Amino acid sequence: MPAADSFLWGVSTSSFQIEGASHLDGRGDSIWDSYCRQQGRIKNGDTGDVACDHYHRYPEDIALMRDIGVGAYRFSISWPRVLPRGRGAANQAGLDFYDGLVDALLAAGIEPWACLYHWDLPQALQDLGGWQNRDIAGWFADYAALLARRLGDRVKRFATFNEPCVFTLFGYGLGWNAPGIADRGALHQAIHHVNLSHGRAIDVLRQSVANASLGAIHNRQPCYPATTREEDVAATWRFAPYWNDAFPYPQHFAHYPLELAEAIEPYIKPGDMAQIARPVDWFGLNHYSPHYIRADVNLIGAGFGAPPVEVRRTAIGWPIVPDAFRDTLLDIHHRFRLPIYVLENGTAADDKLDEAGRVQDPARIAYLDAYTRAMQEAIRAGADVKGYFVWSLLDNFEWTSGYSQRFGLVHVDFATQKRTLKASAHWYADLIRTARTSRIAADRAERDTMTERAGAAAATAVSD
Ligand code: FCB
Repeated sequence: MPAADSFLWGVSTSSFQIEGASHLDGRGDSIWDSYCRQQGRIKNGDTGDVACDHYHRYPEDIALMRDIGVGAYRFSISWPRVLPRGRGAANQAGLDFYDGLVDALLAAGIEPWACLYHWDLPQALQDLGGWQNRDIAGWFADYAALLARRLGDRVKRFATFNEPCVFTLFGYGLGWNAPGIADRGALHQAIHHVNLSHGRAIDVLRQSVANASLGAIHNRQPCYPATTREEDVAATWRFAPYWNDAFPYPQHFAHYPLELAEAIEPYIKPGDMAQIARPVDWFGLNHYSPHYIRADVNLIGAGFGAPPVEVRRTAIGWPIVPDAFRDTLLDIHHRFRLPIYVLENGTAADDKLDEAGRVQDPARIAYLDAYTRAMQEAIRAGADVKGYFVWSLLDNFEWTSGYSQRFGLVHVDFATQKRTLKASAHWYADLIRTARTSRIAADRAERDTMTERAGAAAATAVSD
């Protein structure tokens, strides 16, 4: 395993999925609060009202992170908690919460990684058109400025967006996630305005946070046709640019993938592409599995199909293909030439407390073991991977699946809020410890070799 002192092992979460306290201390509604209220949208009618009650229990959650031994924690800021109407007057209580969280992380020796947007847009801004309204780039920049002022003295790692491809495609194109819109124009507008907002926020953070280390977090994975049928192959070609390239390409190369260029062109104004393509410091990757795509009747004519029978799957049916992770890391390395942080990887499993009050989750351990090994292969082959964060610290609100899918290293009993480290949390703690020890051993061996060489050189010099 790579060095623990230079390599960062972490865990990730997001605001709406864990915080709860959704009507407390002045927080405004997000589009996910509204979406949860719509009948039939979320499994079992679940909501984010309480979630993991992390808003009140964050000291306990940080203690769990310490038990696991992580060096970093990636969380997201709830925009409607700090700006209930999305813009205008800030909510001091909301800002105080993140202040307290950051201070407690630093006191625990855990580096805070703050993501500005993990899908919970203030409903007040959605009422103005949300990501379809070009003005949102200014609102997002002001929001970034507020956080830079309030947290930038202690937080240096900022990500602008989490998985922009997912929340634009599912939220504005296919109508599967909040705000539930399915419209071609809306999708392309949203894509462009999110990119613009990214560039504007990068400028703000760069100017106002000393020693900032900035990036965006992309979900990237191979897209394969589910069958060899011509329509599935064609669907794959239509789907992949939305998924993999609609954000990284403009952000790094200042142009849209060719397949999308014409559709997005009407929304581009002079200077936009340069504004989007601001230099960043790293490439954030979320990766779970490859996609197997088939033709479908929706506005991009593509949807998710089944993987070939020989491909193993997780509890929620996601394919387990560690080699695709290795290949994705190498592909990103060659394409974007930036340090890579894996900011999400993990699996859902059907985890239950046993009679002894423990949670055995061998499937998660096997998944994480295979994927971290694949990462190591990519590093050996040259990919500059600098960190790996497990999704997720806690079982949480898994979007439209509600609380039915458990992704945590820590089991949460949602009736009592009791937390229990799963076997995988102990496994991860061991991995982190071993990586650190083997690094110390490697450093020592290197020092010994250098000392030996120096000694040999000195001896040669004397005998000369
Ligand atoms: C990712 C999301 C994250 C979580 C995991 C399972 O796409 O970023 O919030 O839902 O999937």
